[in-house]
Amino acid sequence: QPSGKGKSLTAPFKPVSRTWENDMVLPNGYNYSIIASYGDKINSKGERFGDAADLTVYFPMDSLKGGNNSEEGLIWVNHEFPEPGNYMKMIGINEATFKKENLANYPELLKMEKEAVGGSVIHVKKEKDGWKLVLDDTYNRRVDGNTPIELTGPARGSSYVGGATTVVGSLGNCSGGRTLWNTVLSCEENTEYGDDYGWPNFNDNHYGWVVEVDPFDPKRPVRKHTALGRFAHENTAMGLTNDGRVVVYMGDDKGDACFYKFISSKKFNPVNREANFDILESGTLYVASMSQQKWIALDRATNSKLQTPEFADQAAVLTNARAAGLAVGGTKLDRPEDVEIHPHDGSVFLSLTNNTGHGNFHGQIVRFVPANGDHASESFTFEVFVAGGQQSGITCPDNLHFDSKGNLWVVEDYAATETNQYAAYKNCGVFMVPTDGKEYGEPFQFASGPKGCEVTGPWLTPDEKTLFLDVQHPETWNPYPGQTFGRSCLVAVQGGSFK
Ligand code: FEO
Ligand code: CA
Ligand code: CA
Ligand code: CA
Repeated sequence: QPSGKGKSLTAPFKPVSRTWENDMVLPNGYNYSIIASYGDKINSKGERFGDAADLTVYFPMDSLKGGNNSEEGLIWVNHEFPEPGNYMKMIGINEATFKKENLANYPELLKMEKEAVGGSVIHVKKEKDGWKLVLDDTYNRRVDGNTPIELTGPARGSSYVGGATTVVGSLGNCSGGRTLWNTVLSCEENTEYGDDYGWPNFNDNHYGWVVEVDPFDPKRPVRKHTALGRFAHENTAMGLTNDGRVVVYMGDDKGDACFYKFISSKKFNPVNREANFDILESGTLYVASMSQQKWIALDRATNSKLQTPEFADQAAVLTNARAAGLAVGGTKLDRPEDVEIHPHDGSVFLSLTNNTGHGNFHGQIVRFVPANGDHASESFTFEVFVAGGQQSGITCPDNLHFDSKGNLWVVEDYAATETNQYAAYKNCGVFMVPTDGKEYGEPFQFASGPKGCEVTGPWLTPDEKTLFLDVQHPETWNPYPGQTFGRSCLVAVQGGSFK
């Protein structure tokens, strides 16, 4: 029976057990408060917090001065997808007779869908009774399905994007990460949603990129960096090579898709923030071959496997990075989700959430060790860190986050019913997994989410006294006022230690 394991030497909390309880269940002494939910007003313009909260990135208010303010800051939250069924209930459209082909005839619904996706910047503050959203017209703003976004890099203006240098909106914003210069990278994952929901004039190749947003400067253009390739981007983990260039590790969340890294041409400038804003515009994209334990460059100039009509130039390689990765020998993996770099030894942890096509229902977390301790190395070794299933008690690992001790926080994503293969796991959970000592690779359950939800976006404040989490697609918990469906939201967990 999978459950939170017994007492831990490492965990500062008494693990909770698997439960069907329709609430955020936490260990004794910890509590949660909701900071913002779908539909909450965030500024006087009337912009609202979007739907399907996923990534959380906390920026201390004094980040740009190198500060660690853990009681006031800006938070970026991704809004992964719209929930049209809910919006139809809100505005009185009969879902039974609605046809998405006619979406253009429902401008109010289309507007709600486009305003539900993208991301939010919100100013937050820790008060005596928990964290609060500060209504603030300087910082609080939305990036959504209507925001003009610049393309950068080799595919900008190319025929593959219809010659576009600017595109309309962002969607499929799953996870992402923080850059070393305090911007956010938001990852466009399942961008076919635009087609699925019947959005008119939808150009696939304008989506599926990594989007950079400066939370501190609303005037700085939002940009999509084509040098990082186009696929179902899950998240980004940024580090430095030994010679000071930037590495970005990235998963393509699809069954039998690959693991990638990008190495910038330019070096990171730790003293001049402004000098780093073009760093993601040029560099080399690599794909992982597990059998060769090597990174293979997706560089048309040097790899004859890419010198084919399908990949007419480097812009074609990047726009079709999934096909290019497979063409050069990238290894098909079991849905690469979140990836994070260990804060002490630089090893790289990747969630492979599952691959039902291969009968892998529980997934695993793999630990990669770059050769010579250098992210620029073209070779690596790897081992399975946690195997999902009965033995570990964890299933379908998704978002990852490290604390300062090097414990890995892991959230799960699956849909359990009382009768399917996930029945024993009940509601999705949050786990802490030590990465050294006697409890290496042993998960301890910290939280259990409300029914039907996926808990996403774990992120600790620098003082590690608050853990932010998002609750995505709860069935009925945190209902929309006057409705029965639950609302996605950002929560702050406090009350005990996280290390
Ligand atoms: Fe949107 Fe791969 O999770
Ligand atoms: Ca999700
Ligand atoms: Ca995910
Ligand atoms: Ca997932």
